[in-house]
Amino acid sequence: MITVTAPAKVNLHLEVLGLRSDGFHELAMVMQSIDLEDRLRFQNTADAQLSLTCDDASLSVGDDNLILRAAQLLRDRSGFSELGASIHLEKRIPIGAGLAGGSSDGAAALVGLNAIWGLGHSPADLERMAAELGSDMPFCVAGGCQLCFGRGEKLEAVPPITQPLAVLLVKDPTVSVSTPWAYKRCRELNQSNYLADEAEFEQRRQALRRVDWLNPLRSELPPPLHNDLQEVVAPETSAVRLALDLLNNVPHRLAVAMSGSGPSCFALFPDLESCCQAQDQLSPQLDRAGLKAWSCALRHDGVRIEA
Ligand code: C5P
Repeated sequence: MITVTAPAKVNLHLEVLGLRSDGFHELAMVMQSIDLEDRLRFQNTADAQLSLTCDDASLSVGDDNLILRAAQLLRDRSGFSELGASIHLEKRIPIGAGLAGGSSDGAAALVGLNAIWGLGHSPADLERMAAELGSDMPFCVAGGCQLCFGRGEKLEAVPPITQPLAVLLVKDPTVSVSTPWAYKRCRELNQSNYLADEAEFEQRRQALRRVDWLNPLRSELPPPLHNDLQEVVAPETSAVRLALDLLNNVPHRLAVAMSGSGPSCFALFPDLESCCQAQDQLSPQLDRAGLKAWSCALRHDGVRIEA
């Protein structure tokens, strides 16, 4: 039996560039792993059965779950139909939150099952399979800090952020945002401003590759945070407006934004200590508003097999 840890991510930058011929949006993002993590346990059963249990009853453990879809894909590609596994998920990352919790679990399934079934796929092979299952999944395999282009699946390494930054995450546990809805709404509102072609997309990618805060020689600069989907989701989601308001008024924050398609919002802090202090200070307001909060450090890796 092995245990695999699956960290959440936040978007330090999310820019919607335009529409692609496959109907998806062309994106330019910087994603960052954080230490809010799910844990998955894998038992090799060799009985052709794939089963999933979870400590959170609100999560579907049926064939639509990315963990089982990843397991199915890996088994199909192996050609060994007798492979089986029983998988247990300890869910800590909020669901439907814009934190890639489902994608990270799916990536953990690829990594964990590749190991217990002895399939020998490289991380690059696993990232290619992950891209077939979801736009954010390839990033989750190696995690850390990466540029993500295309639908989100085209990855480019950047130097890790060396400052001891921390993230105060805030989310209303009763609210989730559908990613397809957020992109559809973005298209309705912004399509007339979308970039027209690949040459324009590449110009924006180049601009992002060159930003000061990703340059190791300018490593004292914190990410300014930007998310195009925030302007689309916040007007329709009061929980996002409330979270942004609270975070924008807390001392020592460096920047504030929504993550992914929301509704999680986060503030960056210079270190974990100031982040935890801010969480303490905000605690009465968070309680009154029914918002949950987590103080998280950055992680420089993605899913990993525990020793
Ligand atoms: O790939 P994933 O399952 O995360 O995408 C969910 C939905 O979000 C897609 O079906 C699509 O409607 C929308 N999407 C998009 N452009 C992207 C990523 C997602 O339009 N780059």
